[in-house]
Amino acid sequence: MKNEKRDWADDGYVSVPYWLYTDPEVYQNELERIWYGDHWLYCGLEVEVPDIGSFRTMTLGERPVIMIRSSATEISVVENRCGHRGTKVVWTRSGKALDLTCPYHQWSFDLKGCLLGVPLRRGVKGEGGMPKDFKASDRNLRQLKVEVVNGVVWASFSVRTPSFRDYLGPKMWRHYERIFSGRKLRVVGYSRQRINGNWKLMLENNKDAYHGALLHAFFATFGLFRPDQKSAMEMDDTGRHACITSVMAQGGANAIAAALPGFNSALKLKDPRLVQAVKELDGEETMGASTVFPSVVLLQQVNSLHTRQIVPRDAGSFDFIWTYFGFDDDDEEMRNRRIRHANLFGPAGFVSADDAEVIRMVQQGFEHASQEGFALNLMGGREIATATNMASETTIRGMYRYYRQLMDL
Ligand code: FES
Ligand SMILES: [Fe+2]
Repeated sequence: MKNEKRDWADDGYVSVPYWLYTDPEVYQNELERIWYGDHWLYCGLEVEVPDIGSFRTMTLGERPVIMIRSSATEISVVENRCGHRGTKVVWTRSGKALDLTCPYHQWSFDLKGCLLGVPLRRGVKGEGGMPKDFKASDRNLRQLKVEVVNGVVWASFSVRTPSFRDYLGPKMWRHYERIFSGRKLRVVGYSRQRINGNWKLMLENNKDAYHGALLHAFFATFGLFRPDQKSAMEMDDTGRHACITSVMAQGGANAIAAALPGFNSALKLKDPRLVQAVKELDGEETMGASTVFPSVVLLQQVNSLHTRQIVPRDAGSFDFIWTYFGFDDDDEEMRNRRIRHANLFGPAGFVSADDAEVIRMVQQGFEHASQEGFALNLMGGREIATATNMASETTIRGMYRYYRQLMDL
């Protein structure tokens, strides 16, 4: 894929060319090598499919799939593409089924996607029908490789993908286990939005602690995330995954907070419970944002726990799906607190609305100069290593080191 049009400087992943976010050919290659390659993709939470036959449909990369509880002990993820002529077999977002029957010619599949029945298979009055050499097992729904890890369902289109825990690596596992310890989860709610930007921008945004207190006036003003806080940015050995953590600042304004452009000490919340959290997870961190490449962000901030799933649509847009959850044994007060804290996030959140808007504007900037411009990731220097401050873009450099090798660019 190297050609003149696609120059990418060899400067330690400090600069990332705009065409990486706008070129449809690059995007197609990403689907093949990343989304359909040796990577685990987030599907959902195990509790979303509680009974045998419970299912949810979703899109991984651009491919529609069905996540379904296929037995008491097993969850299957199968492509939602009929073995007959490729139509979607299941059209609803969620439900419960005894089998999966395609609306077009009513071919039916069992809960693992194996073809059970073909209407008129033996023809009508001895005429027509399928020839004798037709083998139903050749036309099953394609099964993905699946792992359910502490209540989260992961799938991969590639059989070569290593175990999820190895894929994540030990440094990231610590952050994963902090939220997903195995304690039974309960879904609090969902929100969905379409964002007109390249899908990689959302991973960058969630690896980027630098913008947290600068873009998000709400964070700065109410002390949830500020540069004077103790923080860390860690990656797995490949650099593709990262976790940003911070410990909430105690007290009100100080010199660093007061210097932030969005900080306004005169602002007070009418309902301070919006940012009042109770400690519930291990460790001193009050915030943790893990990007699990390429499909999801796992986030804890105050008492909001949620997953943010990325569904690419084309080079310039993606869908972003939020699943808010808590624990099954939460008391009513905690359940209400999680709902209250969810106001910070999602498409209209006091904080997250800023991210969608800024990503849209970044994409526009890229499109206007796609052949000449490049984004700069120089904060914190050129190296790719754990950082213990927020003034670094090391995690973005880490992702592009991995990406560049994988994409052969
Ligand atoms: S396309 Fe599904 S049964 Fe014909
Ligand atoms: Fe943000």
